[in-house]
Amino acid sequence: MGKKIFSGVQPTGNLHLGNYIGAIKNFVDLQNQPGNECVYCVVDLHAITTKQDPKILKDNIRETTAAFLASGINPKKSIIFNQSSVSAHAEGSWILGCVARMGWLNRMTQFKEKAGKDKEKASIGLYIYPVLMTADILLYDASHVPVGEDQKQHLELSRDIAQKFNLDFKAPNFLRVPEPLIQKNFSRIMSLKDGTNKMSKSDPSDLSRINLTDTKDQIVNKIKKAKTDTEPLPDDEKKLNQRPEVENLLGIYSSLNNQSLQDSIKELSGKNFSKFKEILAELVVEKILPISTEINSLIKDKRYIDSVLKEGGEKANQIASKKIEEIKKIVGF
Ligand code: TYM
Repeated sequence: MGKKIFSGVQPTGNLHLGNYIGAIKNFVDLQNQPGNECVYCVVDLHAITTKQDPKILKDNIRETTAAFLASGINPKKSIIFNQSSVSAHAEGSWILGCVARMGWLNRMTQFKEKAGKDKEKASIGLYIYPVLMTADILLYDASHVPVGEDQKQHLELSRDIAQKFNLDFKAPNFLRVPEPLIQKNFSRIMSLKDGTNKMSKSDPSDLSRINLTDTKDQIVNKIKKAKTDTEPLPDDEKKLNQRPEVENLLGIYSSLNNQSLQDSIKELSGKNFSKFKEILAELVVEKILPISTEINSLIKDKRYIDSVLKEGGEKANQIASKKIEEIKKIVGF
């Protein structure tokens, strides 16, 4: 039987290779497996948990949609929409927020990282962000949720909330408990400047990440400048232990080449970094440049992007509004 897939990406600009390898590339693979039903969401409600400029947000919603399309998500096969166009997400979030416990949310490490030292000044939205994420997933009865490693804890919370709702309201199996889909070796792409830090859109150094809108020269230059060490490439996976930058570059290479880390090591062991970086840059350019070119061309056609979102929003609304009505009935409204 096919899987029911739901996932989302925030429209906060600077979509990067980590988002592609950890998430979007898998969205495309899952869409292309027969029998799967896929819903991919531009999560604009999540974006406003931190301050956004309204004009830039609108552009970023279109750019993230363009990135989905340019990467190979096909609006005829998958539902593509933006979260704020389906009101059930906000409604569901409120109801599930009354099921979730403070103690559970207090354990969320991403909130602690994002809120930084001054937690008092973080928005309440940022704190309850994983509850909205839970509503996203449960409204579509998703069986599987493809994400990068950093979302694992949020998905565990979604499972807990679904189970508690079913128990509290004596509605066994009503909310489907979703399974995370996290790639084994490539679910956490690291900064090109520091192999112990995640590649992230908020890193002040643009050299730390490859953006999905980078030019060929930018890609080549960033890989050339990526941090490495002085040893040649190892001949065994175990020897990557203390070499996070090397492990990361090999992970990027393997994922884009659709092969295991072990196979890449076999292919490249003993090579020096200048040679490996040349091979890697060529591969990244081959895979990412067509996406970048397509994003830059698609965002010029706002009418088309908006029509994709509108059509997707209508389809999403049909599913989500039915589920929220059932939820409301169960709650006693
Ligand atoms: P967001 O927008 O931060 O990231 C989008 C996806 O990219 C993955 N990702 C990475 N994967 C590997 N290496 C990295 N360096 C890296 N950086 C980001 C993320 O894990 C994610 O899969 N809360 C979510 C969006 C969301 C969602 C949902 C996801 C909202 N509702 C429902 C799944 C289901 C987020 O902020 O992702």
